[in-house]
Amino acid sequence: MRRLSLCLLAAALPAFAADPFDDYEPVENALVVAAPAPARDAADPAVQRGRYLVNLLGCASCHTDGALLGAPEEARALAGSGVGIAISDPLRVRYPAVVYPPNLTPDPEAGIGEWPEEDIVRLLLEGMGRHGGRALPVMPWQSYARLTPEDATAIARYLKRLAPNPHQVPAPVAEGEPAPAPYVHVGLYQRR
Ligand code: HEC
Repeated sequence: MRRLSLCLLAAALPAFAADPFDDYEPVENALVVAAPAPARDAADPAVQRGRYLVNLLGCASCHTDGALLGAPEEARALAGSGVGIAISDPLRVRYPAVVYPPNLTPDPEAGIGEWPEEDIVRLLLEGMGRHGGRALPVMPWQSYARLTPEDATAIARYLKRLAPNPHQVPAPVAEGEPAPAPYVHVGLYQRR
């Protein structure tokens, strides 16, 4: 019989233990993070639709500081997460690769201020990053790929109308390097 279980675990540079699960503690993470009001063009129907979709699709539950640990900083909703997500298997390697959900406000340096709307649409519908590389599957674009182009454009338009926030998230961490900030491990496991 096969069993699947979904785990959300957090680590903060623990001492390594014989059982890798000893390095982790479960996180209570039952929350909804609201998409903030736009700073401009609030009456534009596409911006309103974009905000509705960002609420519906839960973007802020990753792209907000603290949210992955169940304690979101609502005032910095969508301005990126200083809590990362492990993208290689921490049950196999001591220091997994970690990525920090980026700042989605239009700050030109810390956020997506330089991204044209078309690039945001392409990322949502095709998983393509700005420079051709595929976005990591931990950014769940596969779940967004069936959005209509109009809805994906509405999301892009809404994000570009947020107040720019200069919050910098840590750079991605390669496997084998200790992460500078806490991270969670989200996994779907199949019993052998
Ligand atoms: C499960 C967590 C999670 C959710 C939910 C999520 N994202 Fe992401 N997102 C990420 C991660 C992690 C990355 C970085 C991916 C990479 O480096 O390849 C990312 C990258 C991005 C990027 C690229 C930004 C950049 O500077 O590289 C955009 C734009 C984006 N997400 C928008 C969204 C939108 C819009 C939603 C909701 C419709 C959303 N994300 C939902 C985790 C998430």
